[in-house]
Amino acid sequence: MGAIQPTVDARRQLASKLDLSRRSDLELLDRFDRWGDDLVSALSDVYNVSEVLPELLNILLAQHNARSEDLLQRDRERILEPDWFQKPDTIGYVCYTDLFAKNLKGLNKRIGYLEGLGVSYLHLMPILKPRPGANDGGYAVMDYRSLRDDLGTMEELRATASKLHASGISLTLDLVLNHVALEHEWAMKAKAGDKKYRDYFYVYPDREIPDRFEQSLPEVFPDFAPGNFTWDDELSGWVWTTFNSYQWDVNWSNPAVFCEYADIIANLANHGVDCLRLDAIAFIWKRMGTQSQGEPEVHSITQAMRAFSRILTPALIFKAEAIVGPAQVSAYFGEGTHAGKVSDLAYHNSLMVQIWAAIAAKDATLLERSLSRFTALPNSTAWGVYLRCHDDIGWAIDDSDAHSVGLNGHLHRMFLADYFNGTFTGSDARGVDFQVDPASGEKRTSGTAAALAGVQAALKAKDRVHLDVAINRYLCAYAMVFGFGGIPLLYMGDEIGLLNDETYLKDPAKADDTRWANRPTMKWAAAERASGELAPDAPLATYAEHRIRAGIQRLIEVRQTLPSLHASVATQVKKGTQKGVVIFNRRHPAGHLVQIYNLSDQGRWISVEELGGLHGHVTDHITGHSFDLAGGMPLAPYEARWLTN
Ligand code: GLC
Repeated sequence: MGAIQPTVDARRQLASKLDLSRRSDLELLDRFDRWGDDLVSALSDVYNVSEVLPELLNILLAQHNARSEDLLQRDRERILEPDWFQKPDTIGYVCYTDLFAKNLKGLNKRIGYLEGLGVSYLHLMPILKPRPGANDGGYAVMDYRSLRDDLGTMEELRATASKLHASGISLTLDLVLNHVALEHEWAMKAKAGDKKYRDYFYVYPDREIPDRFEQSLPEVFPDFAPGNFTWDDELSGWVWTTFNSYQWDVNWSNPAVFCEYADIIANLANHGVDCLRLDAIAFIWKRMGTQSQGEPEVHSITQAMRAFSRILTPALIFKAEAIVGPAQVSAYFGEGTHAGKVSDLAYHNSLMVQIWAAIAAKDATLLERSLSRFTALPNSTAWGVYLRCHDDIGWAIDDSDAHSVGLNGHLHRMFLADYFNGTFTGSDARGVDFQVDPASGEKRTSGTAAALAGVQAALKAKDRVHLDVAINRYLCAYAMVFGFGGIPLLYMGDEIGLLNDETYLKDPAKADDTRWANRPTMKWAAAERASGELAPDAPLATYAEHRIRAGIQRLIEVRQTLPSLHASVATQVKKGTQKGVVIFNRRHPAGHLVQIYNLSDQGRWISVEELGGLHGHVTDHITGHSFDLAGGMPLAPYEARWLTN
């Protein structure tokens, strides 16, 4: 199929400005030939192409000329190995630079620790310069071209990226593209009356339009940031603020905004960033009468950005942060004409929610129902799989899924929040409520994985028997994360089971946001102890850290050896005939892997008929033991098995 006319014209222009005797220029043109149509057609879905393309070509040329030899080489390698992030040995780690190692200099010294753990993908949480004071954990960016002062400089970022690369670790950063801090230069200029920059935002002189929008808009932070618009005296208008009042939503229908971000993306890629986490991507397009989330234009814009970076910096991939339900999330990997052309990665929020929900209910029926609703992904993409992150957990139980397994969605969500804040009778979870919805009474939950899994309560009670149960539960849940396929994302400190941190309560800029409970500071003494020998008389906390570290390390090492965990193959999820048992089937040409998890606190039995065709002599890769299946096998409470024939 021939290229569309604007692509042909743009190519001609581009070629005339390149020196085709240079290898990298020739490669750039080749990539334009491959992805130029994806760029131009997606742009034309949203913008008048002639208003965007000339400026984009300027950015392309300038940033191409600024790309270092090392990164050009990385581009070549990634083009030859496009599945680099889908491979089973891709192990993710997510941390705040300051909480992990104080600053980038400190982080450089901890690269060896990450290597030792087996990490090959590092996500440094918001690191670009945020507004001073409250800044939503760094998600209120005032400058995309410099770092938070205490963390380092852009030059240091470049150096850290190349050190990570030399250790086989890729670097992910956040790209907050739905909003900027009200102190960002664009917002300052808008406030000063500059019309050009006022058009970078959604500003309304009175409540008429905001009120009409509000009728269908949900609220993200009803507790501390009610409503979606904020009055600003200097603007003399209502500005769209989906999240906090100091985070101004950017107007993506303005082509100048697209060009700004294209240049920001290129600049980050040229500092060695390998993956951009597209923060709150669902929200970037607004449409009256809708929830203004996941509108079709979101995917056209993403495709245009993706094609632009495939052409310019093919070593870069995108990860969508779209915390949406099973029916909506596939669109972020691309559906229809966008299939495989938007984000390479997206978070599997439903899996995370369903693992915890199954643990609370000691029942996998709802988990099976919800996960069976996922359709196939483009085979060039992968899930980002996680048990918890820096955010709260929203109990995203779909009403009709709940109904179809005999549950009431609302009551089940209420149960989960009560179970995980520990008020439900018999619960040993120690989460903290987040954002109580006044209308429904439903609430979300903050807390570290160890707090939610019962480790924190058992340690507090100094109860060794209970502690072992909680650690087994914790490791069983993490085995599901490592076994699902896609990049497992270990949140900092979860390798030693860090507990909730309450120090945020003393900081006025954080105190009303309980998500800080699940962002503790790394405990280096504990981390170092945990990978050494365990003394027989070690305190209970040390014992817990040690067991968790050994368990996580084992999962990582085993995962790296199992080719059947390549992300291009989907996991089929089934519940066992006995309550609380889940089976993950991975039918990969390299070998059939069957995983079994007992998410109940009772011993269970799994019969050979449930094991998707496995029979006779099997190996459990988690323990390394081989045995005969005969009629089936017993499962201890919270036991996990990864079996092959
Ligand atoms: C994302 C982040 C969250 C932040 C929000 C607004 O959801 O994960 O921490 O509050 O975006 O930027």
